[in-house]
Amino acid sequence: MDSSAYKRQVAGVFDDSAARYDRTGVEFFTPMGRRLVELAAPVAGERVLDVGCGRGASLFPAAELVGPRGHALGIDLAPAMVEEVGKEIAARGLSQVEARVMDAENPELPAGAFDVLLGGYSIIFLPDAPGALSRYTELLADGGRIAFTSPVFRAGTFPFLPPEFTPLIPSSLLEHLPPEWQPEALVRRFNSWLEDAGDLAATLERAGYREVRVLDEPVRMTAESPERWVEWSHTQGMRLLWQNLPAPQREDLRERLTEGLDRLRGGSGPVVIEVPVRFVTARVARG
Ligand SMILES: C[S@@+](CC[C@H](N)C(=O)[O-])C[C@H]1O[C@@H](n2cnc3c(N)ncnc32)[C@H](O)[C@@H]1O
Repeated sequence: MDSSAYKRQVAGVFDDSAARYDRTGVEFFTPMGRRLVELAAPVAGERVLDVGCGRGASLFPAAELVGPRGHALGIDLAPAMVEEVGKEIAARGLSQVEARVMDAENPELPAGAFDVLLGGYSIIFLPDAPGALSRYTELLADGGRIAFTSPVFRAGTFPFLPPEFTPLIPSSLLEHLPPEWQPEALVRRFNSWLEDAGDLAATLERAGYREVRVLDEPVRMTAESPERWVEWSHTQGMRLLWQNLPAPQREDLRERLTEGLDRLRGGSGPVVIEVPVRFVTARVARG
């Protein structure tokens, strides 16, 4: 699949899920976004670019910190995500936030226009992420900061999900995923530069950054119930699996996940899972 067909597929998944994304009784992207912003630490008056902003899990906390004298721009390939962010901006009455439909792989934005660049679980969707990271140094002012998160991709585990889900999703179902989303393909694609902290630092240094820090820190995912988690899984990357499964397998997977998560929570109360997340921060070497 060429890169534009792949991007149409990604944008389609997030467009379809935008209305419910991060609003289905599962806390994950919001706490991850807040933590990412805490690490990037934008201050009053700074200019922030959030690439692949989704519903604004990082964008809105960043906008709060930069305040009305600063600026926070979110870009996303999925128009429905941008529309949802627009509604939220209006509802909150914020003047310093803006969202635009734009490809984060090669954003058409002025050089040196940002002090901080954020990417919450988004840079990993770019076909050539190391190339994009290099272009981001041009968008950042001298000494500007970048902060992004990534899931941990492990051979033998279901992509994007913590290990608790590996026994709940039969590997036979994975053949229904498009070839570029097969776990082995993802592990090959991302682990070549993301898995080893040393390789990751080397990639960022080659791209024009210094002071690379890699922090592996779990984010607590809390689902009100197993059913809510299953609903949530239709609003992120796993939607691709749901979409491609024949109806009987879909029903079977729904039951397996609901029962498995019920066991995990001990039969009542919320489902709480510590999700391993990699937080990466660095500074533009120039300046
Ligand atoms: C898992 S979501 C994360 C959203 C948000 N950062 C958060 O933390 O909730 C990934 C987002 O990246 C966007 N995305 C994927 N590829 C993109 C690209 N090439 N350019 C811009 N956005 C992209 C998707 O549309 C989606 O909104």
